Amino acid sequence: MDNSLDFDWGNIPFGYSKTDFNVRCYFKDGKWGDLEMSSSEEVSIHMASTALHYGQQAFEGLKAYKGKDGKIRLFRWQENAKRLQDSADGILMEKVPVKLFENAIKKVIDLNQKYVPPYGSGASLYIRPVLFGIGGQVGVRPSTDYLFVVFVTPVGPYFKTGFKPVDMYLGRAFDRAAPQGTGHIKVGGNYASSLVAMKEAHDNGFANVLFLDSKEKKYIDECGPANFFGIKNKTYITPKSNSILPSITNKSLMQLAEHIGLKVERREVPLTELETFEEVGACGTAAVITPIGRVIDKDTGKEYVFTKDNQPGKYSTQLYELLYAIQTGDAEDVFNWVEIL
Ligand SMILES: Cc1ncc(COP(=O)(O)O)c(C=O)c1O
Repeated sequence: MDNSLDFDWGNIPFGYSKTDFNVRCYFKDGKWGDLEMSSSEEVSIHMASTALHYGQQAFEGLKAYKGKDGKIRLFRWQENAKRLQDSADGILMEKVPVKLFENAIKKVIDLNQKYVPPYGSGASLYIRPVLFGIGGQVGVRPSTDYLFVVFVTPVGPYFKTGFKPVDMYLGRAFDRAAPQGTGHIKVGGNYASSLVAMKEAHDNGFANVLFLDSKEKKYIDECGPANFFGIKNKTYITPKSNSILPSITNKSLMQLAEHIGLKVERREVPLTELETFEEVGACGTAAVITPIGRVIDKDTGKEYVFTKDNQPGKYSTQLYELLYAIQTGDAEDVFNWVEIL
């Protein structure tokens, strides 16, 4: 295998870089076609497609890691396959069969093996499956035709400066998803509606937005493109809400928290509880855990501080290191989450 590519593996950004191939599969005339490989970065779809007009689009994000043994490891891909099906159901798209999802991600990794960053670089191969309605129509109704594409891109470690706490921006003037809307599935519209709030957060020097529930503004929902958790009294607490995305990282952290002797609670988390946490963080595929150092409430001016000397908390660090070690094959895969390719 050739790792002599023009990448400075230790310094690649968390962003898109071109690789050699992607894979595609069309759903037409009521059936899925063959999985095709392509070297083009472009797709050609009808200008009146439901993806472009009515947001009939869903995506996933998962990672492959290279272990010390040089083998490529995939983390809980079955969960992503299932979540993409839930997203498809939520906006009436054709579901991608699990076997097709599996074949597609394994094929695209195989075709781009040289882009899987080496062990120890902190980088990984990000896998992006996307499903969308194609074919021309103008009325608001689901498409009959779909395209499923999977591309990969090597991504650097999320934290260029190491595992360090960040600041989060909290406000009541923006919503990510409606209480009974599409927040629980991974569709593009949720991300479009979070862009203005995220820009405001970034413009004010914050890493991201801590969204409150859209109906009452009383409960913590999630943190930009990541779930929220708080830890206190040896208990890992994470919000239960219909409008947050069920994070696979969070699901894994809940199991690991129990494994290291913490209690786990998944329930409504009132904003009034925020100041009682000893550690708080955001979790997701991109960063595993983003420790939160401060939350600033832009409406009340209240500042919540969770860090001493800008260091992450003890349990957040332990959970982060354990999960990352399982993903890269450095720790025993106690829950059978990793598939070695
Ligand atoms: C809105 C949102 N919440 C949470 C997450 C974290 O989910 P996961 O751990 O499955 O990456 C993501 C990323 O996929 C997200 O976009």
